[in-house]
Amino acid sequence: PRTILSGIQPTGELHLGNYLGAVRQWVQLQQGGDDVLFCVVDLHSITLPQDPATLHSHTLAMAASLLACGIDPGRAVVFQQSRVQEHTQLAWVLGCLTTMARLGHLPQYKEKSATQKEIPLGLYVYPVLQAADILLYHATHVPVGEDQLQHIQLASDLARIFNKRFGQTFKAPQPLVLGQDAGRLRSLRQPTKKMSKSEPDARGRVALSDAPDVVREKFKKAVTDFTTEVYYDPEARPGVSNLMVIDRAVTGRTLEEIQAASRGLTTAQYKLAVAEAVVEHLAPIRQRMNHLLQEPGHLDQILEKGAEQARERAAKTWNAVRQKVGLLGKL
Ligand code: TYM
Repeated sequence: PRTILSGIQPTGELHLGNYLGAVRQWVQLQQGGDDVLFCVVDLHSITLPQDPATLHSHTLAMAASLLACGIDPGRAVVFQQSRVQEHTQLAWVLGCLTTMARLGHLPQYKEKSATQKEIPLGLYVYPVLQAADILLYHATHVPVGEDQLQHIQLASDLARIFNKRFGQTFKAPQPLVLGQDAGRLRSLRQPTKKMSKSEPDARGRVALSDAPDVVREKFKKAVTDFTTEVYYDPEARPGVSNLMVIDRAVTGRTLEEIQAASRGLTTAQYKLAVAEAVVEHLAPIRQRMNHLLQEPGHLDQILEKGAEQARERAAKTWNAVRQKVGLLGKL
């Protein structure tokens, strides 16, 4: 049987890229007979400066979004990373088995550190914490977008390194890249870059909580080009191609069908059509989310219950690790 684990940062709100590229697939994964865990990784979020009150509300909003998208705490363990202390403990041990050269070469680190004058240590060791998230629950499969593949590779290497040093303990996890749009949704403002929670210009991403008019406005302002036809060419026309990918993801039409149906539309008209399709797709999710956010106490209870389930499993793994590594403590 598979143990499936994935994580998402509450750095900002859940956006269309995370939803279509990741969370929508998570919802399907919990329908099978697998053991499934989803983690809101708040400790990952603080690797770059966060305002405490904002982080707090984003964590609740992320939990609400996941539930609104269809993640079911009755089928999956839904929890918040920092409520389970073993994540950081295991990360320390794994960090002692990781070289600095290895971490310095990871593309996401290079990308994120390039925008910082002073690079926090946390940003550097971030993938080690991610490996701990995965290994702590003996996850066999990790559903992620393409941007995370190197991090899963590191987790799998660390499982082998640990096993070699201390005896068979961890399974090497493998990535599950699901859906044709995993990791591929681009920013509406900079269509050569991925849609991301951390892009300073919020018009680049569509949050699941955005009101219909906000969604329309963002699509209206989407960067395209001066060709007034709708066809797919990601190299030459990243903006329009990204709109078509979004269209495909929410309507289920193929790119050919979209192109045929959009004959005669200008790019400006097409933007509005995609906006409407997105608004319609998000309406029920947004409604459930607003409903959930009215009861933060209830959300907190769900997260605490998830943490209880996670803690029990994490404690077992940590105990085994502690003994193998030779850390003295009660048996
Ligand atoms: P994060 O929070 O950046 O993204 C969560 C998931 O969304 C996918 N994704 C996208 N998919 C399509 N288009 C996009 N524009 C887009 N942007 C993001 C990501 O691939 C990811 O699957 N390091 C991880 C969080 C993490 C984790 C883990 C994941 C921490 N521990 C353990 C798996 C297992 C991250 O920053 O994801």
